[in-house]
This record gives sequence, C-alpha cells and structure tokens, in this order.
Amino acid sequence: MTMTGGWHPVALSTSIEPASSAGTHIGGGEFVVWRDGSGAAHVWEDRCPHRGMKLSFGFVRGDHIACLYHGWQYDAAGRCRYIPAHPDLEVPKTITVPAYRTVEAAGMIWASRDPEPATAPADPGEVVPVRSLYLAASAETVLQVVEGFPPRPFGGDAGPAGLEPVGANLHRLDIGPDTLLLGLQRLSDERTALHIVIAGPAETYSGEGQKHFLAWTAALRHRLESAPAADAVLSTEAV
Ligand code: FES
Repeated sequence: MTMTGGWHPVALSTSIEPASSAGTHIGGGEFVVWRDGSGAAHVWEDRCPHRGMKLSFGFVRGDHIACLYHGWQYDAAGRCRYIPAHPDLEVPKTITVPAYRTVEAAGMIWASRDPEPATAPADPGEVVPVRSLYLAASAETVLQVVEGFPPRPFGGDAGPAGLEPVGANLHRLDIGPDTLLLGLQRLSDERTALHIVIAGPAETYSGEGQKHFLAWTAALRHRLESAPAADAVLSTEAV
C-alpha cells in the first residue's frame, strides 16, 4: 500500500518552515515534505537515489536539498545537479527523485501522485492552525469518533454538530458558529494524522480559540485510545 490517487494532506502549512524538511508517511510509503528557501513546498519520495538515505535527514540550501550521507544535491524538480565527489561531472538527467504534485490549501500542504490530479482542495479563505494529531487508528475510526465526540463551540454551549466531506481527505466540522477543517492523512491502514485548522479570522480565533480546540484534541486522543466506546469501534474494525 502507498499513496493512492487524489490529494493527500501531509502537514499543516505552518509546521514546515522555509529551508526545512520533515519525513512523513502516506499509505505506508515514506515521503519527505520540504520548503525551499523561497518558501515553496515540495513532496518527494523520501529516498536518495544514491544509497537510499532519507532525504528528510538532509539540508535545504536555497532551492536545493542535499543528502546527509554523501551530499548529492537535488533541485526543486527532483533532479540531481551536483555530486561533491565528482564536482566536474555533468550529472546524468536520469538521476532523479520521484516528486509529487504539491499545493497548499486550507492551511495544509497537499500532495498527489496523479499527473493530472482532480481539482485541488478548495481554499476556504483565512484559517487558523490548531495542530496535527497522530493517532493509532484508521481514518474511518477517527471520523466515527470525531462525529460522536465533537468539541463545544468556542465560547458557547454544546449544540448540534455536523461533519461532512468536502473532498476525498478533507472534512468540515460545523459546531454552532464555528467550523473546523479536518485533513485526514492515511499514514497506514492503522495510523492516521488528523490535521486540524479553524476556518475563520485570526482576530477571532488566534490565542484563546486555538487553546479551546487544542484542549478538545487532547480529549479526542484520550477518547480514541481509552474510552470503551472507542474500544468498541476499534475492536469492531479489527474483526
Ligand atoms: S545516499 Fe544520498 S548522497 Fe549517498
């Protein structure tokens, strides 16, 4: 199992600084998410074509990423441009890292393996990041538990909540006047990263609003990992 078709969220936009990289998984496959010096995001296979070192351990220099092991340098398209042990060598065009289409929308970085992927996730306008939550449960189980255990509205009483898909791996959770966007990253069959942002202006949600929904994510994790209802869901899935 590895990246299926369509768009997959791989990180909150705010979690990858310019000139930095991080390793991640989709469908059990390993990927590197990195930003070049200008801030553009890239998602590639996390494997150097030379000896297989993870490129997420490497260093970003301007618009290149350099492998930690022997320093081979790759440009933003994934093509090797420089081999330190052979500085005068014109590097063969065939030495490339598989690179995936990458966009940013809804406060998240998204990747697709499709040469002509479906329309990128709609951008809802201003969002405020909450966090990425890494959970030992399938994406379907995570959604079931979120639906049964929504947060209270920010500064309001509990009220009806609605969860609906707005894309293959993006859900919208309406709670009273507030809306959360939930990006589902299927790390594997049994592990999911839930990337959570608030759809709304920073002047309303920055600070206390973020703390409010952050507290819910801690309770959600506890619910998934220890509550009898969640156990029932997990054990039903395991049958
Ligand atoms: S393994 Fe990457 S440069 Fe050698």
